[in-house]
Amino acid sequence: MALITWNNNYSVNIKEIDSQHKKLVELVNELYDNMKIGKGKEVTGKILNDLVKYTESHFSYEEELFKKFKYIEGVKHSQEHAQLLSKVKSFVKDFDSGKGSVSVDLLNFLKDWLVGHIGNSDKKYSQFLNSKGVS
Ligand SMILES: [Fe+2]
Ligand SMILES: [Fe+2]
Repeated sequence: MALITWNNNYSVNIKEIDSQHKKLVELVNELYDNMKIGKGKEVTGKILNDLVKYTESHFSYEEELFKKFKYIEGVKHSQEHAQLLSKVKSFVKDFDSGKGSVSVDLLNFLKDWLVGHIGNSDKKYSQFLNSKGVS
């Protein structure tokens, strides 16, 4: 079973962003599956690396929209992104420098982040961006 199952409650009503979020969910599920079957460090490291890169580009995508349309909560939201990213990076650093396994803490953090950040902060911009013609 997947760690996170996408459902329409997670939708922010913007097609491109939903598809980016789905990709993030996919990567986290892949990481989880890998942990369960105990795949090697190399494979896991590659997924983690992809996750960081994809997260960076996803956050930039959102932040560009905030700037473009002068979203009032954009600064606060971007700060949240920076915190999430630095936390993910510090988990990856631990992984690289040591045990070579993905901790339950990391998976829980990723799950809470995706479900929590999308469900709260991301959903807040839906109406605003929709009203600017982004859908
Ligand atoms: Fe997002
Ligand atoms: Fe966000």
